[in-house]
Amino acid sequence: MSDNHLLRVYDSMLGLLCSEDNPTPIVRLNKVVPFQHTQVFAKLEWYNPFGSVKDRVAANLIRDAEERGVLNAGKKLVEATSGNTGIGLAMIGNAKGYPLRTPLSDQIPLEKRTVLRFFGTDVVELNDSLCPMPGAPEGAIARARETAAREEEFEVLDQYVNEANPGGHYRTTGPEIWKQTAGKVTHFVAGLGTCGTITGNGRYLKEQNSTVEVLGVAPEEGHDIPGVRSQRQLQQTELYHPDEYDQETEVSDDDAYEMCLRLNREEYIIAGPSSGMALVGALKMVPDEPGNIVVVIFPDNIFKYASSVVRHFPDLAPPAEAGDEQSASTSSNDRFLAELIENLKNPHDTIRVKDLNDQLTTDPAPLILDIRVAEHFAESRIPGSVNIPQDDLSARGGELPVDRDAPIVTVCNIGKFSKHATLILKSKGYRNVRSAKGGLNEWVRKGYSTESGLVAAET
Ligand SMILES: Cc1ncc(COP(=O)(O)O)c(C=O)c1O
Repeated sequence: MSDNHLLRVYDSMLGLLCSEDNPTPIVRLNKVVPFQHTQVFAKLEWYNPFGSVKDRVAANLIRDAEERGVLNAGKKLVEATSGNTGIGLAMIGNAKGYPLRTPLSDQIPLEKRTVLRFFGTDVVELNDSLCPMPGAPEGAIARARETAAREEEFEVLDQYVNEANPGGHYRTTGPEIWKQTAGKVTHFVAGLGTCGTITGNGRYLKEQNSTVEVLGVAPEEGHDIPGVRSQRQLQQTELYHPDEYDQETEVSDDDAYEMCLRLNREEYIIAGPSSGMALVGALKMVPDEPGNIVVVIFPDNIFKYASSVVRHFPDLAPPAEAGDEQSASTSSNDRFLAELIENLKNPHDTIRVKDLNDQLTTDPAPLILDIRVAEHFAESRIPGSVNIPQDDLSARGGELPVDRDAPIVTVCNIGKFSKHATLILKSKGYRNVRSAKGGLNEWVRKGYSTESGLVAAET
């Protein structure tokens, strides 16, 4: 059977990628728009198969790289992202057999980072700004480029400079809008991130009708709206071509989140924060005149932003456990511990298994402390590692080095519980402890050797 958009019957998820014949919906806004004449339509981009506008870009970046012959079987992808491009690349990569590594900012909502890991992506968390900072030498973009330059198996598609990013919109979003409005669109509005959306759509729509106004919306400096860039960051954004846009405006976090709430409650549209921002910008720039038909891009839905939303609407946070003092103090304790553990994901308190492997031959080599239960340790472990199960760490403290500066690396299966052990050791005064990122699973995935069997008890 072949793909059928009318019946919505598909051979595989890739058949759902959007195009003129299979557009994302545009929906008229009725309540939050103060106009009498101007009609405003939201283009709901979470109807792309993997949940955001960036699926179009991911698909086109991959298609283009395959056509140029730089991406083929056996290759891996490495790409910096503010989350959504990563999600699209991860899933198309899963379909086509290209594993993805993504260096990204630890400020990106936990929901996106977790989902990427769930999809099988190798997520490398860095101390970068929300939308990866262009030009930052320590940032995610530089890290992705370095990885591709150093390790031949990796290909970086570089959405920040690649013309296939606006190209994805030129080929799909633009033609969809033109067809859906029967060529009557007068204003196109998009939030500004990599600027692929505004540049690609702007070019296509102006080619159809040069009077279509192309309008860009940016957040304020220091904003908290994932996926978009402040005016300062835009100055270093290669696909930002202000001479191709008719007007730009800036929107505050408060206005963007307030509109996001209204869209959900009054228009029953599950829009995310950058959709709210784009709409506020549209309402500032477009006049109320007969014949005006505005299309605003709504990049993704609210479900990935629970942790952002509670920062702006603290009343929406789950109520602290009601009841006696004991349970209230337990929940604040839990939050405190969770924060400490989350904070340990930084590059100083973790070590990549590749670097750990390199360090095994250095002098002094770190003590590799495997904190899994003894049976798992006997089954498979990093050669030379020592086993003290996490529950025994306090009782068996005497087996730990006397020197509080001794290098120690904690290991578990996936790099989760080893963080708890790292915290315990730090609380015992060890200053040079890190946990192995991805744990033994990552070690094995990288193809490094393991050993097994019982370790003879010391006499
Ligand atoms: C949620 C969200 N909104 C807006 C944008 C901006 O789109 P563009 O990068 O095409 O400028 C992005 C891009 O990542 C995004 O993820």
